[in-house]
Amino acid sequence: MPETVLVTGGAGFIGSHTCVELLAHGYEVVVVDNHANSSPHALERIAKTAGRPLAAAYQVDVRDRPALSRVFATHQVDAVIHFAAHKAVGESVALPVEYYDTNVGGTCALLSVMHEHAVRRLVFSSSCSVYGDARTVPLTEQSPVAPTNPYARTKLTCERILEDVCAHLTDLKVLALRYFNPVGAHPGGLLGEDPQGVPNNVMPYVAQVAVGRRERLSVFGDDYPTPDGTGVRDYIHVMDVAEGHRVALQHVDDRTGMRVFNLGTGTGTSVLQLVAAFGEASGRPIPYQVVDRRPGDVAELVADASAVAEAWNWTTTRDLAAMCRDAWRFQELNPHGYAS
Ligand code: NAD
Ligand code: WQD
Repeated sequence: MPETVLVTGGAGFIGSHTCVELLAHGYEVVVVDNHANSSPHALERIAKTAGRPLAAAYQVDVRDRPALSRVFATHQVDAVIHFAAHKAVGESVALPVEYYDTNVGGTCALLSVMHEHAVRRLVFSSSCSVYGDARTVPLTEQSPVAPTNPYARTKLTCERILEDVCAHLTDLKVLALRYFNPVGAHPGGLLGEDPQGVPNNVMPYVAQVAVGRRERLSVFGDDYPTPDGTGVRDYIHVMDVAEGHRVALQHVDDRTGMRVFNLGTGTGTSVLQLVAAFGEASGRPIPYQVVDRRPGDVAELVADASAVAEAWNWTTTRDLAAMCRDAWRFQELNPHGYAS
């Protein structure tokens, strides 16, 4: 079992929860994050939540190879989890070069520094967005990929690069995890999703409506071919995502080369079902109005989660009620996020 794990993007939403999960299970955790989309306060909250400190945290851009190499020279790194990336679909259309530079360039820089220091284990953050406009759900890892925006193309490009590098460096072990829609928060109430500005994603938006920061949710379309006409997604509790990474580390040595897994629950939830569940969890009705479809949105994205279940004998355990309850607890205790 790898003992020291370097987590890039460890101060971000999924990274911070994963750090807590790893610390709680005895790993030494080293964080590298340039805080392009996170608060350094998250690092203190990781330690507080886990009851144990990080081994170290560096404010370093993953594209800065000399600085990254110094981190690897300081710590005997057994495995890397690479979260650091830009992730906003709309922004990626306006800033494609920035997205390729950070997401693809950052991954290449990391791979070369890992090679320099003979680090052979990597868990990579991929995304269900690589599937694009899926014609049939649930999506298996063999479903066709057809990314529809620059962000999703950066993730698919990274997967291709990882395949090529694994073909060349035959002792490399890479797991690319395609997350569906991570939501929720750590149940302790100190860690959660803290988006800057207007949230792009539905769950943090709903939470901000519930806490009174926003008037009402705009539901993007109710004329999709789904049971209630609103978009259906596979929401997965961020603590299940975090746990999935810990379990992935236990299986990264199963074989060499590159493997791809979905990380979802296999259950689809519509926007209106999410609104109802959040209203129930928070005890506050969520006002909403139906508006036009959001350009680029698809009707339904749901994972076939059976590959991970078979390979790792592991499944997600937290349901929609837990996702809403934990997201609400964080929002209520931290109405303005980490700035609260
Ligand atoms: P996030 O923005 O909260 O976290 C990303 C972290 O990476 C941030 O702390 C940011 O400061 C850091 N970062 C960005 N560029 C960096 C750089 N050049 N050097 C060092 N650090 C840098 O996002 P998240 O939701 O936690 O997502 C984590 C990963 O999971 C990303 O790779 C994302 O693409 C992927 N993913 C996220 C979702 C989702 O819905 N949240 C779904 C699928 C995949
Ligand atoms: C979910 C549903 C919207 C906001 C994104 C990325 C994807 C992946 C996961 C990173 C849809 C509806 C939303 C709102 C709404 N991330 N909605 N009102 O678009 O499924 O996926 O996050 O890899 O790449 O694209 O997530 O939360 O934005 O939307 O009605 O204000 O909620 O139409 O049906 P999405 P989302």
